[in-house]
Amino acid sequence: MKGIILSGGSGTRLKPLTNMTSKQLLPVYNKPMVYYPLNTLLRAGIKDILIIIAPEHAGNYLNLLGSGKEFGARFTYEIQDEPKGLAEAFIIAESFLEDENVTMILGDNIFQNDFSEDIKSFKSGGRIFAKKVADPSRFGVVEFDDRMQVVSIVEKPKKPKSEYAIPGIYIFDNKVVEYAKNVIPSKRGEIEITDLHNAYLKDGELDVRMVEGEWIDAGTHDSLLDASILVREKLQGDMII
Ligand code: G1P
Repeated sequence: MKGIILSGGSGTRLKPLTNMTSKQLLPVYNKPMVYYPLNTLLRAGIKDILIIIAPEHAGNYLNLLGSGKEFGARFTYEIQDEPKGLAEAFIIAESFLEDENVTMILGDNIFQNDFSEDIKSFKSGGRIFAKKVADPSRFGVVEFDDRMQVVSIVEKPKKPKSEYAIPGIYIFDNKVVEYAKNVIPSKRGEIEITDLHNAYLKDGELDVRMVEGEWIDAGTHDSLLDASILVREKLQGDMII
């Protein structure tokens, strides 16, 4: 199992904070934001990690994270020239992945959970997660029937059909690279990760698990503040870096 941290994008929602640095390098309590998703992968035993970054901030990432040796890991870097969508990460990662399975985590997603079991027990297909939230229209949303079977998956619906958001951690087998190449860009010009979920769903190979612990997408001013408080109150003890 290899890992990807997707840390690109232009962080428009966090301007002016992101005028001089990457969103995922902003402080969350006492560490740069990207340390938290990195911690999640390392805790789950993933040591071979591709970090995808925007060209403007590449130097900052190298200074901060280096080769990975200091973290007992191996880091590879790739550039995402423009934020063309999360699914593009798997196309960028093609040669890095070779034919292995992958866990991708978003550089602005902060989790309390330990995903070791979810990752170690993964064999093939796609495994994504769901978490009940107050504002599902900010996220990919998964709808279940009475037997908790997935009915639909929609990216940022105006009228969400459920309260279950899809957090930014995804486990896929190597078919994801081909699926990503076939995704047609959405109206906002991005190749959406939810299209990959739907490709696995169509093949009957999508598994959705609940996230029990805390989760924050720290991409807005309010959630950035909430993330710092969450780390101070609850997450510091789970940090291995
Ligand atoms: C992305 C995904 C969305 C997911 C979210 C999790 O949205 O497109 O499906 O629920 O991450 O953080 P973004 O936050 O990049 O707009």
